[in-house]
Amino acid sequence: MTPASPVDSPALPALPHWEIPPADLKAATREIKAALRARIAASGRTVEEVFAVIEARVAERVDEIVAEKARGETVWPVIDYADIEAGTVPARELARLRRRGCAIIRGHFPREQAVGWDRDIVDYVESNHFFDDYRGPGDDFFGSVGSTPEIYPVYWSRAQMQARQSDRMARVQAFLNGQWRSESEGVQWFDPGRDSLYPDRIRRRPPGADSGGLGTHLDPGSLDLWMTEGYQQAFRHLFDGTVEQYDPWDAAHRTAGTQYAGSTMCSAFRTFQGWTALSDMDHDQGVLHTVPIPEAMGYLMLRPLLADVPDDDMCGVAVNQAFPANEKWHPLLMRAVTGIPDVQAGDSAWWHCDMVHGVDPVVDQQGWGNVMYIPAAPWCPRNESYAATVREAFRSGSSPDDFPAEHYERTWPDRFTIDDLNDTGRRGLGLN
Ligand SMILES: [Fe+2]
Repeated sequence: MTPASPVDSPALPALPHWEIPPADLKAATREIKAALRARIAASGRTVEEVFAVIEARVAERVDEIVAEKARGETVWPVIDYADIEAGTVPARELARLRRRGCAIIRGHFPREQAVGWDRDIVDYVESNHFFDDYRGPGDDFFGSVGSTPEIYPVYWSRAQMQARQSDRMARVQAFLNGQWRSESEGVQWFDPGRDSLYPDRIRRRPPGADSGGLGTHLDPGSLDLWMTEGYQQAFRHLFDGTVEQYDPWDAAHRTAGTQYAGSTMCSAFRTFQGWTALSDMDHDQGVLHTVPIPEAMGYLMLRPLLADVPDDDMCGVAVNQAFPANEKWHPLLMRAVTGIPDVQAGDSAWWHCDMVHGVDPVVDQQGWGNVMYIPAAPWCPRNESYAATVREAFRSGSSPDDFPAEHYERTWPDRFTIDDLNDTGRRGLGLN
């Protein structure tokens, strides 16, 4: 059964769509903006009115966040891993997780285990002469952070795979996936209880480091968010006169559609992006910040349709670049930028996949700043298809398809092997 979707509604004009990047981006931008405006108008509302609905929702959250900060409160929800395991997360914290779209999981792993993993990673790269062989940043995004390898393009260490296939990780991922609506319109969009083990890198930033940080941006896509059929359906409520029903936790139409390729693209559908801390990190040492408002995605999607943005411009969004959020087009959102609290090795940080985030700059960093990136990427058609490429990369020790083709680990003898997989690992790679 094809799910009924307002995008298919004969009452509203259809949207043009491009399943690969259009050759003439500016012309396509003009075309899609005109079509989106016409569709909103045909629903009986104006773009300004629809935007004002989202703006009011977001502004209410911004005011809450500004007030919490003024009272010296921790804006990021903090949830004890023990409560997730016992099923006793307080209702207030659950509500805050949904409201803020992000959380720190305290004690996700025992501190000694995380510190041990950090040491194992150092042994792994040093014994394989990584620093002698390092050829410089392999991509044009994290490459801007600096020329020393703070981001290790290493995917298959025992430490990373042990964390990815651990019961503790699976439990937290299932808990986070459960904040989303995985089933709607008669379709199960993803399986909240099965992760696809999305392999990502490691960051190890040493004491004394200076870092320019990363500007505020978001990662779910670029112009494809407006231009592909799947995303047009995912964001249907913003464009069909039912903006009040826009729900950032609805996975409908998000787990199978096409995406525009690019060096910053993530092929997987992630409910949350995340990392696990491998060192203690204080809140003022160049750490992660977010705009902790999931609904802000609606604001970012509608903002380019207002009259002050040139017709061939989507507020600076371009293919093959991270989606920028900034003071010029989104000053309301920038008032809510909020960094994480102090974390310890073994804590993890998570943020809704659509949320604006960045990394603060730091000068003469105190202590290490070490994380392994492990998101929640539940099993769904998109992730199943990417898992096929992950399996091959895992077997050969290659860099996964979403990352630069650096392949440092192919000749490293002590990487994690197929015999080391447990049931979670096998299921995550689609080997069962
Ligand atoms: Fe990012």
